[in-house]
Amino acid sequence: MAYQICINPDCGCCYDIDQVLHSCNVCGELLDVGYEWDSLSVPDSLSHFGCYRFSSSGGVRCFSGVWRYYDLLPFLPLDKLVSVGEGRTILQNAIHISSFVGINSGRFFLQYEGLNPSGSFKDNGMAAAFTHGAFVGARQAACASTGNTSASLAIYAAVTRLMEAVVFVGSGKIAYGKLSQALDYGAKTIQIQGDFDDALMRVRQVAKEVGIYLVNSVNPFRLEGQKTIMFRVLDDLGWRVPDWIVVPGGNLGNAAAFGKAFIELSKLGLIDKVPRIAIINASGANTLHQLYGDGENGDRETGNLRWNGGRYDKIMVKNFYDKMTLESRKANTIASAIEINRPANLSKALRTLEFCNGVVREVTDQEILDAKAVIGAGGFGCEPASAASVAGARKLVAEGVIDKEQLTVCILTGHQLKDPNVTVAYHGTDQKFFDDTLGKFNITSAQFANKPITTTNDQNEILKLL
Ligand code: F0G
Repeated sequence: MAYQICINPDCGCCYDIDQVLHSCNVCGELLDVGYEWDSLSVPDSLSHFGCYRFSSSGGVRCFSGVWRYYDLLPFLPLDKLVSVGEGRTILQNAIHISSFVGINSGRFFLQYEGLNPSGSFKDNGMAAAFTHGAFVGARQAACASTGNTSASLAIYAAVTRLMEAVVFVGSGKIAYGKLSQALDYGAKTIQIQGDFDDALMRVRQVAKEVGIYLVNSVNPFRLEGQKTIMFRVLDDLGWRVPDWIVVPGGNLGNAAAFGKAFIELSKLGLIDKVPRIAIINASGANTLHQLYGDGENGDRETGNLRWNGGRYDKIMVKNFYDKMTLESRKANTIASAIEINRPANLSKALRTLEFCNGVVREVTDQEILDAKAVIGAGGFGCEPASAASVAGARKLVAEGVIDKEQLTVCILTGHQLKDPNVTVAYHGTDQKFFDDTLGKFNITSAQFANKPITTTNDQNEILKLL
């Protein structure tokens, strides 16, 4: 009923569900999880899912905001599903942030994935990957991470004890909130010299050589879990499809999963409209933006890469990466979660962009931190990478690509407490602290800073300040 299938239409090789693969053995492309929908019981209408109200005693479909939509990701039987209570997240009507973005009040929403057990959207995917890993009998699970995947993996290992967690992180490339989670939850934490791109390459080799189960987003089962972020957005909108989904782009797992969700919902006749998608890179880690460009035909040196029905220009991608290697170019952004130059899900993201009539933009670290401060002041704190979505939406409104009346949803991928150093540096009054921490990322101002006021411990002095 479920299988794995190569996304290259000229290959289309299929594999059994119990095989552990990260790419097609024949052509090397990424794999999807495929379903024989005709033989499965799929509800006639999405409103069916309303019957799974959240509760701790109603079974896994009521406990988990991922498995609530089990009928749309039924790759294993119900009794095999793993959950730590992920996906109980909400769509927030962000009225105090909409004016900053330029969208009319009531038309701008934030999907607050920081409310997951490990504080980021990764738990959606980890529930699915853990379910599959445990099913195939793996004893150890590994990932490379900019911090959130590792925090998530560590929680699933600690709570379920089904697999032991091994995480690979780049040295000095991980926010302390996230590193502290991996350590606290007992994951074997291996800090290697290099960045995320180096760590991912290494962990893929190690996993293959010694048979550790890899939970990075090249694992097609993980992305099945991440489809449910879109199901929850639709659910919270009363099953209306928004005009725009705006998401930060790092390794492009979300971009890949969201597109697959909409391809399947359309195919099953469960939606009659497809939202447009905007993928937002940080300008210091902008491979997708470089390759895809800004407009219909691309307007950059290389920016014209399109999915093209699966026959995208692989030579363009290879030349781009070769040049990057030659120039020793490394990703560099304050948004450490998306500090990635070689996005593993590039091809799937291109597919999403084609299906969802998407656009790609990049935003500077300054734009990211200003947006982050405004999001925080609106009461929905997030980490820098998440704020790229709001900064990107603002840019697209200014360009006239997003209309101010269009229903727009930005994904807040990670919680505010993941990276407190950046937040304190932005709001701080201490110029040296600001310069030392943010200066190296070319942040020159903090126009939305809420500066702490220092004073003597004197009642009259304090009263004067209130
Ligand atoms: N936002 C946050 C908070 C993230 O942690 C990540 C990815 C992204 C956005 C980008 O998502 O890869 O689906 O495009 N973090 C990974 C990690 C790479 O290791 O935690 P993507």
